[in-house]
Amino acid sequence: MKRVIVKCPGTVANLVCGFDVLGLALQEPADILELQLIDEPVVRITNRDAYNLPTEPEKNVAGVVLLSIMQHCNNAFGFEVAIEKRIKPGSGIGSSAASAAGAAVAANYLLNNQFTKEELVQFAMNGEKLASGVKHADNIAPGIYGGVTLIRSIYPLDIISIDAPSLFVTVVHPQIEVRTSDARQILKQQVQLKDAIRQWGNVAGLVAGFMKGDYELIGRSLEDVIIEPVRSILIPGFDAVKKDCIDAGALGGGISGSGPSIFMLSKDAVTANKVAAVMQNVYQQIGIDHHVYVTAINKSGVTVVEEG
Ligand code: HSE
Repeated sequence: MKRVIVKCPGTVANLVCGFDVLGLALQEPADILELQLIDEPVVRITNRDAYNLPTEPEKNVAGVVLLSIMQHCNNAFGFEVAIEKRIKPGSGIGSSAASAAGAAVAANYLLNNQFTKEELVQFAMNGEKLASGVKHADNIAPGIYGGVTLIRSIYPLDIISIDAPSLFVTVVHPQIEVRTSDARQILKQQVQLKDAIRQWGNVAGLVAGFMKGDYELIGRSLEDVIIEPVRSILIPGFDAVKKDCIDAGALGGGISGSGPSIFMLSKDAVTANKVAAVMQNVYQQIGIDHHVYVTAINKSGVTVVEEG
């Protein structure tokens, strides 16, 4: 039967000011997902990692995505999927989205690429709904399209790929778990008009900065007056990391997705590595285990690494 192996990139959602509407794909870390098309209309899941994620399809992010594709196709076939997660669940680096986007792209490949990217995002959002309780596409869309994406709307879906200049991304993952559903629950449901004005100025500034390749504009638009003040309390060392990284030359950054990871954008690799050292230093001092990635923007999203 037909089989494919895909690499599913981690993603940084929100990009500080763009809660639920902006995201970018990373070159590293990435999950590996192997998918096989079978005649029987069932989904069988094998874990190739130590995270013990549920293998019942209805409780597994990749599983619900595959079930939704099968249902769309009148259950004429099924899938066997093996997942090696290298993006730790609850890291804020789009772990669930990597499974969801990977499953959707791999299934599409085995089904002769009959679906558009936008349709794949629709299927994959079922996985996000399972993981975080709400459909949001700011990890899924960059995971499928690659690069930086703007999700102008999800009802109806309206995704825009945003050109970006060369950027290095440093991500620190303090080894604590923050569940997206919890990090969403603590948010205030109302915002002040003055904060909204500042925030949409920043979102527009960030998109313009990417498209113009204006690093200074990118840097000063990486400001969040709505979500970060609430969520940063869940992340030990957040203020120190942010201040020290900017002092070390980062353009700016903040919470990656719903945390606890923190990301910083830099113009060049030397600065991105300096930023990594600064992050390590903060967490060594606080005494929290951590993992740091120095990487870049992934322009292609989920990619096929082996077929046959
Ligand atoms: N936009 C989502 C949130 C991303 O911040 O809750 C979760 O990774």
